[in-house]
Amino acid sequence: MQKNILIGVTGGIAAYKVVEVASLLKKSGANVKIIMTHNATEFVSPRTFQEITNNAVSVEMFGDTANFIHVEHIALADWADFMLIAPATANFLAKMAHGIADDLLSTTMLAFDKKILVCPAMNTKMFENTATQANLSTLKARGVKILEPAEGNLACGTVGKGRLPEPQEICAEIKKILSEEQILSGRKILVTAGGTVEPIDPVRYIGNRSSGRMGYEIAKAAVNAGAEVVLISGKSELEPPKNLKFIKVEAAIDMREAVLNEFDSVDAVIMSAAVADYRVKNVSAQKIKKSDENLTLELVKNPDILKELGSIKKNQVLIGFAAETQNILDYANKKLVEKNLDFIVANDVTAEGAGFGVPTNIATIIWRGGDVETFDKMSKADLAGKIIERVADLLSKDKKFFPLTSNH
Ligand code: PMT
Repeated sequence: MQKNILIGVTGGIAAYKVVEVASLLKKSGANVKIIMTHNATEFVSPRTFQEITNNAVSVEMFGDTANFIHVEHIALADWADFMLIAPATANFLAKMAHGIADDLLSTTMLAFDKKILVCPAMNTKMFENTATQANLSTLKARGVKILEPAEGNLACGTVGKGRLPEPQEICAEIKKILSEEQILSGRKILVTAGGTVEPIDPVRYIGNRSSGRMGYEIAKAAVNAGAEVVLISGKSELEPPKNLKFIKVEAAIDMREAVLNEFDSVDAVIMSAAVADYRVKNVSAQKIKKSDENLTLELVKNPDILKELGSIKKNQVLIGFAAETQNILDYANKKLVEKNLDFIVANDVTAEGAGFGVPTNIATIIWRGGDVETFDKMSKADLAGKIIERVADLLSKDKKFFPLTSNH
């Protein structure tokens, strides 16, 4: 398992079992680093973890940052492919659920956007407390994986649910989660994102409100699923995701060229970019001077990139987006058919919490063949995960023309 695994150890008696977890992960080929809370150091010495992992153990928020190019919590969050929190105390679950960042571990969690497994371990009543259960539900809803505690003798002298599962069980769960992620291993995926910029003159352009968020999240999800990813981005202020080929373009015609250059070598294309349908016919070489007259710009049609892909595609899976403000399903369905897509993700860009700029989206997937899946409001990262699961399903089972049944 050639992964970078960051283990967060919080202050519970079961911390001693996590020494064995770190050792097993190391033996399986993973690189392991540890962050301990202050309370955790009351149960196990950082030196023990240091010897097991061959890496320095981090405890202090403002400790020695000599080994880090960025501040430590960002560097550790960037480094890790996966985070395990074990044992997770009730207090730490509450901090995670509420975004409290008051020490190195909780701060690192906020900067970490990949898979997390949490292993709660505590007294049964604390575990069953409504507050703890509500915090666990919040974390689950955000996609955090929870390994339920085992039943048995507890350190507090009672018998019940609350024991940290055995190290082998924790490692098996980590392997399962990491292998689930590799659903696009061996596949090449092309994602477009952001808005195209259609020049008027050297200083002005026609643009749109796309931030690139939706497409960047899809590209990240595809990378995390093991795919080789090409991200072709129009205008966006976001930092390009790591571990992919990033191509920046401006106008729709540049995006078309970049997409066509890659098309033959990819297994799937996901076009979430907001591509301008029109461009200025005569782009002025000089800044247009203000005059007393009104200004009329003649617009000509841009190529429809996705429609062109639909007409030349061989075995590629083709996914489109439909940004609509009315008659969502009708208009999206028309685009699905016209562009010869496998499915289209329709979003009502006027709905609150959906569409341009915001971190969430509300989507409906319409499948070739007519099946429809509706999704509640969710983060664009979560929606990206759903899209990637469906693309992987189409690719792995060659089910392009046999859509999944509804699964909300
Ligand atoms: O970037 P964010 O701020 O996160 O916002 C996300 C989003 C709203 C941009 C995204 O969810 C979205 O809806 N993207 C598609 C926007 C769009 O251009 O929709 P459309 O209905 O105009 O186009 C339909 C499909 O054809 C799209 O896949 C589009 O990429 C493609 N198209 C459109 C025009 C064109 N000339 N060529 C194309 O390939």
